[in-house]
Amino acid sequence: LFAGETEFVKGVVAMSGLPEADRLEVCFAGRSNVGKSSLINALTGRRGLARASNTPGRTQEINYFTAGDDLYLVDLPGYGYANAPLPVVEKWQRLLKQFLSGRQTLRRAFVLIDARHGAKKVDEEIMSLLDSAAVTFQVVVTKADKVKEKERERVLDQIRTTLAKHPAAFPELIVTSSEKGWGIPTLRAII
Ligand code: GTP
Ligand code: MG
Repeated sequence: LFAGETEFVKGVVAMSGLPEADRLEVCFAGRSNVGKSSLINALTGRRGLARASNTPGRTQEINYFTAGDDLYLVDLPGYGYANAPLPVVEKWQRLLKQFLSGRQTLRRAFVLIDARHGAKKVDEEIMSLLDSAAVTFQVVVTKADKVKEKERERVLDQIRTTLAKHPAAFPELIVTSSEKGWGIPTLRAII
């Protein structure tokens, strides 16, 4: 769907730097290292488009990518633990919250949750923020290749229980593996 029509636009470090709000956007939020950048690469079919790495805190700016002429894909810095100095982390966390609650053209947030870990307290905080801002969000379960089916089902149940408490949550979960390509066509279709 997006192959050949995606391009990096810019990295943003302050709300004033956001591109003109002239089209819809979907963003990818989640704890550091959950697989946000990898998912964007899998969706677009372009391996090196968004920089992914094993170091939590790799993405430190709000990164904009085009998906055709009518949509932006937005890769966000992670929340939770990051391998970076505290003042820096605090600065980008503030920006992340401003973005999630104040971007008018943001149509949906994908909240990524690791299939091994389930929804944590920080995920719930972000979900509550999205509730308050009335931004519809949908959970994408990542790294499904790293768990056995039984464990995966347990985690999915835990996430469903969490989502039931959040009015802005879209009930359907999308289970993915960027490594194996699982769930990617489904997510592409939703976008
Ligand atoms: P930050 O930018 O630091 O917040 O991280 P991120 O959420 O963008 O994660 P990133 O995409 O950089 O991936 C983190 C690590 O997880 C990398 O080493 C990826 O290769 C790995 N990873 C991402 N998705 C998958 C997946 O579906 N399966 C497996 N096995 N590994 C994955
Ligand atoms: Mg990243």
